[in-house]
Amino acid sequence: MTDQDRLIAAAAAAARQSYSPYSRYRVGAVVVASNGAEYTGCNVENAAYGASICAEANAITNAVADGVREIDTVAVTCLDGDGCSPCGNCRQIMREFGVRRVILTDPAGDPLEYALDDLLPRSFGPEDLQD
Ligand code: THU
Repeated sequence: MTDQDRLIAAAAAAARQSYSPYSRYRVGAVVVASNGAEYTGCNVENAAYGASICAEANAITNAVADGVREIDTVAVTCLDGDGCSPCGNCRQIMREFGVRRVILTDPAGDPLEYALDDLLPRSFGPEDLQD
């Protein structure tokens, strides 16, 4: 099993914890911190739809709550629908913590790998606020 396959399997396990009674679109994510520690998250929806949390944001905030500030990789997958891709807000949250590699699944469930730079070109980040 490749590293990509292992991370997607872990993301799928996280997706099985999804709380998504409104969209019925179960998403899971795994974060690999620069120190090698891994954190998972699933999407958590809310009756006030705008209060819902994406799987990627959930995994990243889990990592940050454990002291992580540098993240290398995020893997994301969904159990429903035709493959998945992080929303714009989650791409920006990834950018904050230096994510370099994003692993997604295609409609067949096979891993695809992207540089965050390709998913969020000409991005705005913490360095832009420093003098
Ligand atoms: N969602 C994620 O958790 N991550 C993505 O990459 C795309 C969308 C969630 C948000 C919402 O709970 C459901 O999927 C439908 O948009």
